[in-house]
Amino acid sequence: MFIVFEGIDGSGKTTQAKLLKQNLEKEGYKVKFYSEPHFLGIKKLTSLIKNELVKTILFTLSRYFLVQKILKDLNKNYIVILDRYFYSTLAYQGYAGGVDIKLIEKLNKWSTKGLQPDVVFLIDVPIEIAISRLLKKGEGYQVLEKRKYLEKVKRGYLKLVNRNSNFYLLNEIKDFYVLDGTKNIEELQKIIMNTIKEKLNTRKLIVLENVL
Ligand SMILES: Nc1ncnc2c1ncn2[C@@H]1O[C@H](COP(=O)(O)OP(=O)(O)O)[C@@H](O)[C@H]1O
Ligand SMILES: [Mg+2]
Repeated sequence: MFIVFEGIDGSGKTTQAKLLKQNLEKEGYKVKFYSEPHFLGIKKLTSLIKNELVKTILFTLSRYFLVQKILKDLNKNYIVILDRYFYSTLAYQGYAGGVDIKLIEKLNKWSTKGLQPDVVFLIDVPIEIAISRLLKKGEGYQVLEKRKYLEKVKRGYLKLVNRNSNFYLLNEIKDFYVLDGTKNIEELQKIIMNTIKEKLNTRKLIVLENVL
């Protein structure tokens, strides 16, 4: 099973993804956790570069190599949890950054080899809340500068889930959950964990039915 977390900075993705890993491991599942951009050199570069097209290319490259790892993990029956996937490039570089959406879609197709997540959790929070959380974490200065940008990203994400939008990849996904990120950490984790457990149990049943 391949699970993706998306949302603006400060929405709580990393918190929930890591908690989910811990909780699934407690139940005996083998779990891998990755975050994008996966390669440290690329992470550093993208934090320095302002040009959105160059960023798009760097994220794409990083994603291309990470997907190879993820495919191997999935083959070994790991549950893979990923903190940001190609939706981030659509929302940040595409919708907010002005890079051509069609171009991003082509790059996404190439870098992911068509690998779609089984579940996507989009954690949606008001910008104010995200910023206040980041300020507490000591990351606020950078974010305050980018307030307008983050607002566009938030709108971009919501556009992603709007069926009338042109984000073709979205319509192929059955399990795209938009979560209210203003709920507390435990409450959100409970919803996430229950959703995943239900899916894992349904899978087990299907396997059993095939065996019997
Ligand atoms: N539901 C929540 N309610 C209150 N604070 C939260 C919640 N989720 C995360 N936080 C806090 O907000 C900050 C940003 O969370 P983080 O998981 O790093 O967000 P992201 O990975 O989306 O940028 C952290 O300090 C975290 O403890
Ligand atoms: Mg994070």
